[in-house]
Amino acid sequence: MRLFLDTASIDDVRAAARFGVISGVTTNPSLLAKEGGVSYKQRILEIAEVVDGPISAECVTRTADELVVEARELASWHRNVVVKIPIDEAGLEAIHRCSSEGIRVNVTLIFSANQALLAALAGATYVSPFVGRLDDISEEGMEVVRQCVDVMTIHGLPTQVLAASIRHPLHVTQAALAGAHVATVPPNVLPQLLKHPLTDIGIQRFLDDARKAGLVR
Ligand code: E4P
Repeated sequence: MRLFLDTASIDDVRAAARFGVISGVTTNPSLLAKEGGVSYKQRILEIAEVVDGPISAECVTRTADELVVEARELASWHRNVVVKIPIDEAGLEAIHRCSSEGIRVNVTLIFSANQALLAALAGATYVSPFVGRLDDISEEGMEVVRQCVDVMTIHGLPTQVLAASIRHPLHVTQAALAGAHVATVPPNVLPQLLKHPLTDIGIQRFLDDARKAGLVR
């Protein structure tokens, strides 16, 4: 499973990129709104300078015709842009039209395996089931990830399952075990994947013993 970073903050992207574990970035209008008025294009181009991988930029228009025009514009910003389109009737038509033109689409706001199947049949490159938002309404978000992975696998569909709306480290483990191709991780969750109290205690104990052994002062 690959890891993307779920943010529109260039500082967060730079901080995470130094570890070499992030192979893409996902953004959305809510994440951009936290960025103090920076233009979407400028931010995507800044991110593209740091991460050489898929960068999702989200469409905000509502008809299929508008979505296709907007998707072409977003895709023209950089070769690594993947256009995010929400799944509904207009979205499904736009996914099909964009994919036919060679524009890579990340279908967002997926909450069921049937939505993922339709998106895949329409040519989506990624489907993004939203785990945390399903958990928020007392449904098991990860079960939808599992079902999406099974649907793609059983039917040999090339669409990749991108676990989104990740809230904590357990979601990442579960997404990996469910066979998700990608998990997009918020910047605060990434360091949590690294930390373990026994690692910290172990490092301190080895340092103390190294001092006793005269290896370090
Ligand atoms: C990423 O593609 C999604 O837009 C994002 O993961 C949604 O996360 P949220 O449910 O925490 O807003």
